[in-house]
Amino acid sequence: MKILNLNLKHKTVPIETENGLFQKAAQRIKELFGERKIMLVTDSNVGPVYAEKLFTQLKDLNIETGVYTVPAGENSKSHDLLLKLYDAFARFGLTRRDIVIAVGGGVTGDLAGYAASTWLRGTGLVHIPTSLIAMVDSSIGGKTAVNLPHGKNLVGSFYHPEIVLIDPLLLETLPDRYFFDGIAEVIKYGLISDNNLFEMLESLENRGNIIEHIEEIIFRCCDIKRNIVEQDETESGIRMILNFGHTFGHAIEKVFGYEKYTHGEAVSVGMVYISEISEKLGFCNSELPKRLRSVLSRYGLPVDFPKVDNNAVIDAVLIDKKSRTNDINLVLIEEPGKVFIKRFPKEQIRRMVHENRYD
Ligand SMILES: NC(=O)c1ccc[n+]([C@@H]2O[C@H](COP(=O)([O-])OP(=O)(O)OC[C@H]3O[C@@H](n4cnc5c(N)ncnc54)[C@H](O)[C@@H]3O)[C@@H](O)[C@H]2O)c1
Repeated sequence: MKILNLNLKHKTVPIETENGLFQKAAQRIKELFGERKIMLVTDSNVGPVYAEKLFTQLKDLNIETGVYTVPAGENSKSHDLLLKLYDAFARFGLTRRDIVIAVGGGVTGDLAGYAASTWLRGTGLVHIPTSLIAMVDSSIGGKTAVNLPHGKNLVGSFYHPEIVLIDPLLLETLPDRYFFDGIAEVIKYGLISDNNLFEMLESLENRGNIIEHIEEIIFRCCDIKRNIVEQDETESGIRMILNFGHTFGHAIEKVFGYEKYTHGEAVSVGMVYISEISEKLGFCNSELPKRLRSVLSRYGLPVDFPKVDNNAVIDAVLIDKKSRTNDINLVLIEEPGKVFIKRFPKEQIRRMVHENRYD
């Protein structure tokens, strides 16, 4: 087993990664939490395959367990579902000393995490991520959220789990589209801080090749995130580099109503777009956007900025939660493994997007 410890100011979060860990999860939970009650939160795809197994295993260990299943998909990160979840917590009699376990992808983790952080002002939380995005990104770092019609992740909290249990074997059932979605985030980690990881992804060819290295890939991504979050828990500085490609990515997701693009697909387009901006501003050479286009396309990820109303993109960028002042922080790139944050006046962003002007 590979173990990382995310050392925060007020607590340490172990991140355990091992093929087959899920089979031992109930036992591990009992060791950690004794006979505290457990509420499993899952979605309609993951529930029947994994959460129900865990439910049975916990019951077999005499742990009082409940399960709440939300419909799969981004639309479940909503206040409607949040209220339903609170209702389920109330009916189950979940107290502050009990534990919410998110078994699922980023949607389940963000929603269950926010519910756990607000229920009775905070109950225990465990993440058992089942998608690649959740394994390498959303289950680590404590960000929880629900969406509003105005934009993504506008309501949320920083709330860390007690532990993250990652079993890469759970990826076997993850549909290709979501697997490669996660690969977009893996490529992001390479770009922001690990040239070797980026080159590894350039040298592999398909899902089968990647799976041979998946434990190591997941571990490296988690370690990068651990390191950045330890330096900046609440995203007031360096943690912003984790948003590489996300400002325009979120805008694309929003403009298309969270339906056409998945999170990773939108980030893929956003990473190419921002690397091209970096090139036009003279921060990187023209090879980098080309390499990025090539590696992302190899894994079937979109790379071209869609033809849309520029005003809608700009409006979406301006309402993005990272841009409430007059300036917008963009994460630009010099070379794989080397990025930096630069503030731009909103007007300059408008000129770049609208008029293709980089002066
Ligand atoms: N909190 C954070 O720091 C953070 C970071 C990155 C992304 N996110 C959020 O995460 C979400 C995207 O995450 P996601 O791609 O995991 O979305 P998701 O939870 O919707 O999962 C993607 C799809 O895969 C299915 N699935 C998940 N695991 C499976 C498995 N093992 N087998 C079969 N099907 C499986 C899900 O049911 C869903 O249909 C977005 O809402 C994004 O904003 C949050």
